[in-house]
Amino acid sequence: MNPLFDMTGRLVLVTGASRGLGFAMAEALSDAGAHVVLNGRDPATLDAKAEALRAKGSTASISTFDVTDEAGTITALDAIEAEHGPLWGVIANAGIQHRSPIEEFETADFERVVATNLTSCFVLAREAAKRMGPRGGGRIINTVSMLGTTVRPTVPAYIAAKEGLRALTRALAVELGPKGILVNAIAPGYFATEMNQALTEDAEFSAWIEGKTPLGRWGQPNELGGAAVFLMSPAGGFVNGHVLAVDGGMSVQV
Ligand SMILES: NC(=O)c1ccc[n+]([C@@H]2O[C@H](COP(=O)([O-])OP(=O)(O)OC[C@H]3O[C@@H](n4cnc5c(N)ncnc54)[C@H](OP(=O)(O)O)[C@@H]3O)[C@@H](O)[C@H]2O)c1
Repeated sequence: MNPLFDMTGRLVLVTGASRGLGFAMAEALSDAGAHVVLNGRDPATLDAKAEALRAKGSTASISTFDVTDEAGTITALDAIEAEHGPLWGVIANAGIQHRSPIEEFETADFERVVATNLTSCFVLAREAAKRMGPRGGGRIINTVSMLGTTVRPTVPAYIAAKEGLRALTRALAVELGPKGILVNAIAPGYFATEMNQALTEDAEFSAWIEGKTPLGRWGQPNELGGAAVFLMSPAGGFVNGHVLAVDGGMSVQV
């Protein structure tokens, strides 16, 4: 294995890794030698996914908790480190979407999206920093979105949360860099995952996506893995405060 991308011996927690982009990033890290800890809220799904990685020779584990539960998150981090050793990296990837015209968008739904997509990432980063800082460093990756700098209607909470997370990434990179903790974000374009099922099944929307994307298609989840390995591995050792777009060029097309 190229030592630039060798993750052997590194422990990495990926939230929202029971499917979609989180699992794809976890799988790529696992393939690069990391011990990945898959998080989500359903232990049966997580077990099956971890087993699939173990079948390829990895030492994958699971940690079931709701990222919006602050006490549960802290307990889980303690348990992960007690069982598996020091965390090298965390990927704050768990996220939800809620679509509604603004006039019907309930405050509770706005707050639920912000709690899951933004506040939970703050809590995870703070708790990771408490552990990584005294050990001399680590890596944090936040999953933001192409949506934010460019926007679409009916997803205001998602856009507000993801833009907040981009800003939080910069704030953390500056504050934690001196402690050796590198903080970056990955900004996916449109990927065919469960979150986007309603959109992939909409032929008109799908055609619009293909037309707007220079590569002419949706992204496949495994196409996000390389970005995660890059930012977690020695290759990314001087990359801090960066937002890496993985969107087939959609964000730069007029
Ligand atoms: N797909 C895209 O095109 C796209 C584009 C840009 C950004 N993103 C971002 O990428 C991330 C992953 O998206 P995806 O498309 O892979 O979504 P997905 O297929 O819906 O998967 C979401 C993951 O998050 C977990 N999750 C949701 N709420 C959680 C909570 N409160 N606590 C713990 N885990 C929770 C889900 O597991 P359980 O439900 O089992 O708990 C699942 O593993 C999200 O942050 C999303 O905003 C996606």
